[in-house]
Amino acid sequence: MRFASISIAAVVAIAGAVGGVFAHGGATGIVGDRMNGMMDMAQSVKTLSQSFAGGAFDPAVVRQAARVIEGHAGETMLQLFPEGSLDSPSVATPEIWTNWTEFSRLAIRLRQLAAELVAAADRDGSPPVPAPVVSGPEAPGDMWASLDERALLGLKPQPRVSTRATEAPAEIGPSPQALFAEITDACASCHAAFREAN
Ligand code: HEC
Repeated sequence: MRFASISIAAVVAIAGAVGGVFAHGGATGIVGDRMNGMMDMAQSVKTLSQSFAGGAFDPAVVRQAARVIEGHAGETMLQLFPEGSLDSPSVATPEIWTNWTEFSRLAIRLRQLAAELVAAADRDGSPPVPAPVVSGPEAPGDMWASLDERALLGLKPQPRVSTRATEAPAEIGPSPQALFAEITDACASCHAAFREAN
């Protein structure tokens, strides 16, 4: 299988964030609830990245991981962000409630993309077009070690990758990996806008 190395590489990194960013710990109440949900989603992103990168694409595994993201996104996520809920150790920003339209758009888009991935998981794991177009620095051979999870989480600029290149022809819809790239874009976009760059 061929994949856009940068997007897979960047995505792999999100999983590494789970241990690190939760070092602060101690979150309780609704802040703890939403952090747990986010952590579950990060675990699913890790599972998905391994499915796409590891050459062992299993539709059942992909479907299950996508369902976890679907279940935490959309309205479920929005209900965990009542106005002003910024108790320590939250790293959410008050802009969530001054720009609720955009915040909720991203949460709902994430849910839709995850639902699409649930539906697309049975498609062939191989992208139909070779030679994905990658711009920005190429990951070296040891991409697993060299990646920076903070880039994926939207805390730092990351190299751009064309998701178009991994899309299947329009009549069968986006490939699973194109959907996966859009999912991680949704994570990163929301973090860039609504989470403190700590
Ligand atoms: C609609 C906005 C939004 C989307 C979409 C979103 N997140 Fe988050 N995420 C947040 C916010 C806001 C926080 C900080 C919450 C807090 O600290 O109270 C957060 C926190 C996190 C954290 C905890 C890190 C930390 O700040 O300590 C992880 C891990 C995480 N998100 C993963 C994900 C993953 C993976 C996805 C996509 C599958 C995703 N998020 C999608 C808004 C979002």
